[in-house]
Amino acid sequence: MNAQCPSLADHVVSKNWSDRTSRFQYIERCLDHYYKTPLNRELSPHETMFNEWYLEVGHSAVQVIVNAYLSSYVHRVNTVLDLPCGHGRVLRHLITLFPEARIHACDLDRSGVDFCRDVLGAAEAIYSNEELSDLQFSAQYDLIWIGSLFTHTSRPVMKRWLEHLSKYLSSTGIIVATIHGRWCEVVAQLHPYVNEQAWDGIVRDYRESGYGFRDYEQAENHEYIAGSYGVSLSRGSEIVKDIESIPGLRLYSYTERAWADHQDVIVLGRPAYDAAANG
Ligand SMILES: C[S@@+](CC[C@H](N)C(=O)[O-])C[C@H]1O[C@@H](n2cnc3c(N)ncnc32)[C@H](O)[C@@H]1O
Repeated sequence: MNAQCPSLADHVVSKNWSDRTSRFQYIERCLDHYYKTPLNRELSPHETMFNEWYLEVGHSAVQVIVNAYLSSYVHRVNTVLDLPCGHGRVLRHLITLFPEARIHACDLDRSGVDFCRDVLGAAEAIYSNEELSDLQFSAQYDLIWIGSLFTHTSRPVMKRWLEHLSKYLSSTGIIVATIHGRWCEVVAQLHPYVNEQAWDGIVRDYRESGYGFRDYEQAENHEYIAGSYGVSLSRGSEIVKDIESIPGLRLYSYTERAWADHQDVIVLGRPAYDAAANG
């Protein structure tokens, strides 16, 4: 070969090309490990989310997170925050998907956090605050998984907490969060989320402004939550507007019914939409 004329191989193996190729190889290795490793099936005696779809819902989160990874610029998933982790419905899957990652488990429910650390193997147990913005984290995360938290918060709370959490993203980190989107108005006819009076108010506000929220009544709520916590219903277009108003981020995707054919999924993160160049 003529030494002055670089081969095609030299030409195409630029930094970006090899980076992107190795991301695919990395996630393939993660999936290979996930499907070859038996899942920890121990159930917490205090699990409140158990039903016949328990394992499928966790598996669906894996699909959602792998899609989010592929849509983003995350290189390696070394640090993960599962918030709220509950009693590990999803965390048990994340542990086998990302065996080399440090996975932090955070919730208001302390028995859930302890179970995730002591039984499922989370690296760190973080007891949350009712006002999440008052909680400081010790890491910058490559992935923050937020499964069914904003489905229970008002719009200002969702926005404030998203903005707070975005400060704990690594330079290419992503937040993958679930939302009660327009499909949930249909689901509620078969499986009500909350008492009828509250739901009527939620739907009224949703139709008017694109976001409806009402607090649970005391009997519907967790006994350890004293402040605002209930059920939300929102239009994807309104969620996108809220994300656009948070500086330093970009929107990677909004997918309807992505989590277990039920909740919508948003993916947002770094680098910012207006960053000079992708990482
Ligand atoms: C519907 S559950 C989802 C739990 C888990 N992600 C799962 O999929 O099984 C909602 C969780 O949010 C937690 N939660 C509510 N407010 C919170 C807060 N401020 N900080 C952390 N967790 C909170 C509750 O304790 C509860 O475990």
